[in-house]
Amino acid sequence: MKHFQFTKFQIAVHVGSLIPLAYLIFDIVTGNLSVNPIQDITFRTGKAALVLLVLALAVTPINTVTGFRQVIKVRRALGLYAFLYAAIHLFIFAFIDYGLDLRLIWLETTEKRYIYIGFAAFLILLPLAITSTKGWQKRLGKTWKTLHKWVYLAGCLVVLHYAWVQKSDIRQPIVFGVIVVLLLALRIPRVRRRISHWRGRHFSSRKRRPATSKPDMLETSV
Ligand code: HEM
Repeated sequence: MKHFQFTKFQIAVHVGSLIPLAYLIFDIVTGNLSVNPIQDITFRTGKAALVLLVLALAVTPINTVTGFRQVIKVRRALGLYAFLYAAIHLFIFAFIDYGLDLRLIWLETTEKRYIYIGFAAFLILLPLAITSTKGWQKRLGKTWKTLHKWVYLAGCLVVLHYAWVQKSDIRQPIVFGVIVVLLLALRIPRVRRRISHWRGRHFSSRKRRPATSKPDMLETSV
């Protein structure tokens, strides 16, 4: 039988990722949602999905900048939790809010174009979630890495979706947008090399594996 062993950091990430869901269920059960409960749930699941997606995107840059390798081990979990919240978000919209009335959903979508953008992001996240296992990584080989780079496009689309929903006050979407752009910049090979070099010079006494060295399975720097 497979023996699972989690580090304290991994446990903290799992617990932290499930807190918004637990909090949401608690508020539903105790009738603590706002006057528009469906919108409340849509917002909260959307926000949780966005935050977790950005955290998943931050994993490789955090490893590059700090050399903290444990963070790589939680990337898959963060990505899958982001997908879980996005799936609940979509479920609430399509099944609960619109009773899966495709005509009504179509009418709403043609009126509110941000739904296309959210849907596009979801369609990118879906194959990434399915192929996130070690088995798929082995099967796809190099294609796996290329496929999983699409997560950045998903991140950009979600920020656009969020900004479009907010319309008047887009301060928060801008903050998320800046973070995604910065994380993208930190992935540019030249920038990464410079940071690794700088880290090597300043922290060379600590024997950490450089971010550019050969990664383990599911630790590939996507
Ligand atoms: C088919 C896919 C999607 C649909 C149909 C959809 C639909 C919606 C709807 C209807 C709203 C609320 C708008 C309002 O009531 O004014 C919303 C908000 C939002 N959605 Fe989505 N969405 C989708 C995908 C996603 C994905 C994949 C993410 C994140 C990974 C996401 C993140 C958000 C965020 C952050 C908000 C705003 C929350 C807030 O203002 O606090 N959405 N979405």
